Order: sequence, then C-alpha cells, then structure tokens
Amino acid sequence: MDKLLIQGGARLHGEVTVSGAKNAALPILCAALLAEDTLSLSSVPKLKDVGTTINLLEHMGVKVNRQADKVDLDARDIRVLEAPYEMVKTMRASILVLGPLLARFGKARVSLPGGCAIGSRPVDLHIKGLQAMGAKIHIEHGYIEATTEHLPNNRLQGARYYMDLVTVTGTENLMMAAALANGTTVLENAAKEPEVVDMAECLIKMGAKIKGAGTDVITIEGVDKLHGAVHQVVCDRIEAGTYMVATAMTGGEVKLLNVKENLLDAVIEKLREAGAEVICDQNSITVKSDGKLKAVNIRTAPHPAFPTDMQAQFMALNTVAEGVSKVTETIFENRFMHVQEMQRLGANIDIDGNTALVKGVAELEGATVMATDLRASASLVLAGLVAKGQTVIERIYHLDRGYENLEEKFNALGANVKRVS
Ligand code: UD1
Repeated sequence: MDKLLIQGGARLHGEVTVSGAKNAALPILCAALLAEDTLSLSSVPKLKDVGTTINLLEHMGVKVNRQADKVDLDARDIRVLEAPYEMVKTMRASILVLGPLLARFGKARVSLPGGCAIGSRPVDLHIKGLQAMGAKIHIEHGYIEATTEHLPNNRLQGARYYMDLVTVTGTENLMMAAALANGTTVLENAAKEPEVVDMAECLIKMGAKIKGAGTDVITIEGVDKLHGAVHQVVCDRIEAGTYMVATAMTGGEVKLLNVKENLLDAVIEKLREAGAEVICDQNSITVKSDGKLKAVNIRTAPHPAFPTDMQAQFMALNTVAEGVSKVTETIFENRFMHVQEMQRLGANIDIDGNTALVKGVAELEGATVMATDLRASASLVLAGLVAKGQTVIERIYHLDRGYENLEEKFNALGANVKRVS
C-alpha cells in the first residue's frame, strides 16, 4: 500500500490549476444513463472514484471513450440494470445510478453503498423520494430492488417531495429520476451545492426541463427522452480550498487557476478571518500569507454555509494558529477521525460530542499517521507540510479518490512530498 512522505517546512509558491469537481463529475457521468446518444464531458478529473464510476457504467453497457480529461459516454445499449456490490462497495456515490436506471428502464437493482467511513450514511431519502414518485422498492440481500412496471407506461410519476434533511446526492438522484418521469416533480428542501447546479445545467443541455437548481425548491417537468450534450464539469471548490488553506498555513503565495470565487465564499471569509490575504480575479484566486494565523471557529452546514468537506483542513489550520477555536460538525457523525492522527503530530484538540476544541500550538512535529477518509487525509497532508521533520501518511488510497495529481501539484509549488510503495 502506498504511503506519502512529507518533509515539512517549505512555503508554497507559484500557480496551480484546479481540476474538475469530483462531486460534479460523478453524478454527471451517471446522468449519461438517461441519454439515448453521446454525452461528451470535459474537465473530468483523473480520480479513483471516476474510474470506479466508469467501470460501473461500462458494466451496464455504456460505451466509454476516455482521453485525458475528456470522456464520451454512449448509453444507447444498456444490457445490465444492476450495480453489483463488488463494484460499488468502495464508493457511496454509486447510488447515483439508481434514479437514472429506474427512470429510463423502469427497473434497477443497486447494491447498498459503502464509501468513506464517516458515520452511518443512509440512503433512505433517495428511496423515499423514488417511492413518492410511485416506484415499488424493497431491500433484499443488501440490494435495493426498484421497479415501475405497475405504473402507467412503466414510468415514474411526478410528485411533490420534501426532504427532511438536505442531501446532495439525494437531490441529484431524484432530479435525474424526475427528468424522465410523467408530469412535474417538485423537490423541496433541495441541496443548493454548486455541483447540484452544474448537474442541472448538464441535464438541461440534454433536454431536461428543470427550474430552481441552486435554490431549495427545484421543479422538474418530465420529458419523454433525453439526448446527448457537451458539458464541461465545474471546478473543484474543495480541491481549491485545500490548496488555499495549505498556502495560508505554510506562509506562501499561490495563484489558483480555473476557479470561481462565488463557489468559495464561506472558505474565503474564514481564511481572511484567519489573517490570510485572498485576492479574487475573474477565473483565479491568489492567497498570500506570512504563516502567522489566528484561530477561527468553524461550523459546517449545507451550502452556502461552510462545507463539511473543508472541516478537516481548517482543523489542521487551527492546530498551528494563535488562540483557541471551536470546530463544530453538523452534517456527519464521526467526522473527527483526523483528530487522533493530528494529536500524534502534537496538536492540542479535545472533542466534546460534535465539537472539537482546538488550542493552537507553536509547532507540530512529524510522525507516522494513518489516513482514514478522503478529507481527513487531506488535512494530514496540510499538517505534514508545516510539521517539523518528516511526516509519513499511510493508507493514502483515500486521497487518490478525490485529489488529482496531489503530490505533483504540491511539489510544483515547492513542497517536498514523495509517494513510496
Ligand atoms: C455529498 C458529497 C460529500 C459531502 C456531502 C455533504 C458527493 C459525491 N459527495 O455526499 O463529499 O461531504 O455531500 O456536503 O457529492 N442522509 C440521510 N439519508 C439520506 C441521505 C443523506 O440521512 O438518504 C444524511 C447523511 O447521513 C448526512 C446528511 O444527510 O448526515 C448529508 O448527506 P448527503 O448530502 O446525502 O451526502 P452525500 O450526498 O452522500
């Protein structure tokens, strides 16, 4: 299993291009299942989760042509309406094939998902939403079995559905399902994340009739068929945010290219509060810092509030900032697994329920730590970049699920990060 060796102490300088967003690419790849001809995507990041999704789609019969960041998907001939456990166990987002398969073919069998070990992450809202649209669903041997064969034209029926928790992939799954349903669907308390909006834009190019994406009420008027389209995946705001925090912590100056300021408002505000300078231009953001940061309180919540996927990185920042901060996680239970590992590096953190109290220390010290989930792994890289001496991060396969060319990008900015087997 690969490890990362990080020699701490380098200040980051230079430019880095932000990749396409994993969390937009995954649902949009699955949306290809809805179309009767080719969906052509660009800015698709080279990540393990993207590879897993493409393998799954190919298994179903989608013809995929992938060259660099471009992926063409042709779902004309789908043979298999099943997502098997072996293929989806590593990635929760595989649940995103359920909506499109059921909407277009009236039948789907999808393994209950696995993915990051950040608490119990049910998919009950995806299922209830599809049931509200008339689907018959039961769970058997770890599989979700869904059908619409009892419904007129073997089609889902438009419905009004209120999600009692904001769910990102739930909103995306139901939006895809509703795009090919009979009649109009209204999704209330929908997720407003930029990746939901990007997916809606792609679906609209494919012929879907969707209004309100980016607000908490999305209205979808079902159509009979969707066609192919050309779409560029939105930039990865979490990858961008990770490099921004790294720059602030190491006390450098980095310009991020291919990034949109309005996707990162909450993160930019917190970085400024911590004392970093953030300069936004049309498609770029520059972060400057002398490395002397003030502790900032963080409370995660659905977009446009502070993203849970940036919580661990800001926890890393707070470990070496001046003062005491409170970091509160409201989206996921058990999303503090990085705390134990940061303590191994000398961080001073106490956990009380869903809040971590972080007392900044003068310096972290390199040690061997273990990556436990995707964003936790990123936070350990950031801690390693400022720790004295060498930090060894084990189990970095989590990082490969979500960060494209992580060591190359950091090393191009002057860091000293090495991957060893
Ligand atoms: C997506 C993102 C993930 C991010 C998360 C929150 C993708 C591929 N992943 O995950 O990076 O951390 O949004 O911004 O886009 N819940 C239920 N029942 C459900 C669905 C969700 O109880 O049916 C709960 C979850 O357990 C969690 C909360 O709702 O506590 C939010 O989860 P959700 O937004 O669904 O996360 P994902 O879409 O899986």
